[in-house]
Amino acid sequence: MAARTLLLLLATLWMPVLVGQDQTTALVNEARQIATSLHERLIEHMKEVLHKEGTVQAVEICHIDAPDIVNEANRDGWTVRRTSLKVRNLEDAPDKWETKVLEEFARRDAAEDSDDELEHWAVVEEKGRPVFRYMRSIHLSKTCTRCHGRHIDKQVARQLDSLYPFDQATGYEAGDLRGAYSLSRPLAPTSAGAGSK
Ligand code: HEC
Repeated sequence: MAARTLLLLLATLWMPVLVGQDQTTALVNEARQIATSLHERLIEHMKEVLHKEGTVQAVEICHIDAPDIVNEANRDGWTVRRTSLKVRNLEDAPDKWETKVLEEFARRDAAEDSDDELEHWAVVEEKGRPVFRYMRSIHLSKTCTRCHGRHIDKQVARQLDSLYPFDQATGYEAGDLRGAYSLSRPLAPTSAGAGSK
């Protein structure tokens, strides 16, 4: 934890020169809030559907509802998505920047052997424009392994197979790093910087 706090401190000390501390802090806070409420919304929906419909039906409902719930999180210029190094929905495949961050998360996750949330943010240039990008790790709980685990019920596996013939998102255990929320927001020109926690 101390190392994380130090990193955050270094990031916030370094970034003011480039972006402006207030702007960075505001962007990170906003991104955190959006990721947290999206996470809560997804978990709440998943629990409700699993409870009411059972796992097989829940796969189909997730298939239809999850992309909508994620899209609904887009607001105030932010674009929000989920991504992973092993995707179920091919539309969630990471871009180059996301791949690097996910690889770094995987390395840090293995080194720290904990399911604490990992974060990374940076201002990157995209098509000649500065864009603030933020990612936060997603770890699996036991419930998630019903559809992402090693031993998936046969009917559930069949349902997954029919909807996602290229599914890579199985074989996980509770506590494993599954992927990340990835948020981005275009900025006014002349911004730059990066940080991790
Ligand atoms: C009922 C089955 C089911 C359960 C339980 C479930 N998922 Fe999923 N998960 C899915 C489906 C289906 C998708 C693909 C949704 C889509 O098409 O966008 C998915 C996609 C994802 C993605 C997006 C990346 C990708 O691979 O496309 C993440 C991240 C994710 N799940 C994490 C979790 C976490 C964390 C939990 C537990 C809190 C969980 N899932 C529980 C079925 C499930």
